Amino acid sequence: MLEHDIIIVGGGLAGCRAAVEIARKNPSLDVAVVAKTHPIRSHSVAAQGGIAASLQNVDPEDSWKAHAFDTVKGSDYLADQDAVEILAKEAPDVIIDLEHLGVLFSRLPDGRIAQRPFGGHSHNRTCYAADKTGHAILHELVNNLQRNGVKVYQEWYVMRLILEEGQAKGLVMYHILDGEIVLLRAKAIMLATGGYGRVFNTTSNDYASTGDGLAMAAMAGLPLQDMEFVQFHPTGLYPAGVLISEAVRGEGAYLINSDGDRFMANYAPSRMELAPRDITSRAITLEIRAGRGINMDGSAGGPFIYLDLRHMGREKIMSKVPFAWEEAHRLVGIDAVNKPMPVRPTAHYSMGGIPTNTDGRVLASADGLVDGLFAAGECACVSVHGANRLGSNSLLECVVYGRRTGAAMAEFVEGRKLPDVEEDGYLEEARKQIQGLLDRSGEYRIDFLRQQFQDAMTEHCGVFRSQDVMQQGLEKLEQLQEQYQQVYLDDKGKSWNTEIIEALELRSIIVVGETILSSALSRQESRGAHSREDFPQRNDERFLQHSLAYYSLAGIDISYRPVAITMFEPQERKY
Ligand code: FUM
Repeated sequence: MLEHDIIIVGGGLAGCRAAVEIARKNPSLDVAVVAKTHPIRSHSVAAQGGIAASLQNVDPEDSWKAHAFDTVKGSDYLADQDAVEILAKEAPDVIIDLEHLGVLFSRLPDGRIAQRPFGGHSHNRTCYAADKTGHAILHELVNNLQRNGVKVYQEWYVMRLILEEGQAKGLVMYHILDGEIVLLRAKAIMLATGGYGRVFNTTSNDYASTGDGLAMAAMAGLPLQDMEFVQFHPTGLYPAGVLISEAVRGEGAYLINSDGDRFMANYAPSRMELAPRDITSRAITLEIRAGRGINMDGSAGGPFIYLDLRHMGREKIMSKVPFAWEEAHRLVGIDAVNKPMPVRPTAHYSMGGIPTNTDGRVLASADGLVDGLFAAGECACVSVHGANRLGSNSLLECVVYGRRTGAAMAEFVEGRKLPDVEEDGYLEEARKQIQGLLDRSGEYRIDFLRQQFQDAMTEHCGVFRSQDVMQQGLEKLEQLQEQYQQVYLDDKGKSWNTEIIEALELRSIIVVGETILSSALSRQESRGAHSREDFPQRNDERFLQHSLAYYSLAGIDISYRPVAITMFEPQERKY
């Protein structure tokens, strides 16, 4: 059995920031990061547009309170306002700290950190490194892991969270290199495993974003909060769905339909292209539905609309959003200096996740905590984004709540002993699970089932939802879950058997997808990114509450818990 004082699962921004904080608070603690990829390949590296903070470098009128209000309004009033207050108040400090760690932010001519406009933010408060902000931050944090002597188990897949009598005790993990299975115990465990974009067939997320941490928590009997709220980013490059950053619109690009109109004037006249993402994605979907989408030959009635940068000019495009230009050039052969880019909504972000308090401690129920278990970042739901996240608040959440969770864990483990764990039973069960996958002579390939599942989720739980469509989706998912028992692997070996990982990831996708769909069926209102055609209004009386979904093989139970409203009373949300 391996052991450390603290284990962090996930090598992205939240996990790395937590590790750095633990080292600062108590350098004698033995900390490990376990990740299924090299930490530098975590999806945080792909974050583009920026990180919000009311630094007032560009806009002296900005304040933490304005940031908090924008965030709460953007969330359609479902965010917990105590958590938002912390987010907005601590933002300037975490940015300066990142700068001191070595992050190379883009600059104003006078040398201060530059800030750009972003959707739903009332002031220019998004700090950035061109359109490669996640890359700039994650590289420095990973360097700091090494500097602080954090042990990194890279390319290990965590198969199970060990939870006994309300206490998190350890993990069972699988080494992708050679199939070794080991148990690792610790005094505190943090889940920082990121999101689940791969539950859908079109996503801005990387292949590894399969919701493993969420599924692990759900299968250990813990609730998942607000899972119905899936963010569809308005500008996924058509057809691949990769992200074209909101920074492009922040720097002035237009959204136009087949009539050549800047249609956002009809949906959010005061914010236009910089409306929050839920509103912009719905607007694009409605334009396409109404026949004002565009085809590849430029004719009307097609599956995308245009993101037009041409008026911005080559110099601005190449200095402010070079990566977006490169993506369009490489993937669809378009030079955005001269031609508009084809875009449409793409699954991007999970507002829901593993419920935590503001120290990152995981909730076992509406009013109880799990001993020794923490979570932060996209897999967690603290909840600062409520029903719809504002762009550039997710990197911020990772850093603010990664830091807080690191500090809380350093304090938590003080004076605690390592837990007792009987390892034989867990190892035996995990070996049987892997051998069972290798021995199966089923009839379905992983790839086929995954595609069916992703197609079903996209068709039945997309930007717009309704009872009948979702009910049909749930039936499809149940069928696919049965077929998963008959999945077979071509590779029967133990060395770099990525099919085993894909089979385990598919299990995560299925658990998370079912939880999303069940939570969405249960919420009979429209709020933020959850848009019900059969219940088009927000219903505060019944649903100004967080959902908690408890997964089991027999089905998913949904209950609700109150939202913390400490600063801003809910109002009609207009832009
Ligand atoms: O569009 C973007 O650059 C994405 C930013 C975010 O999701 O915060």
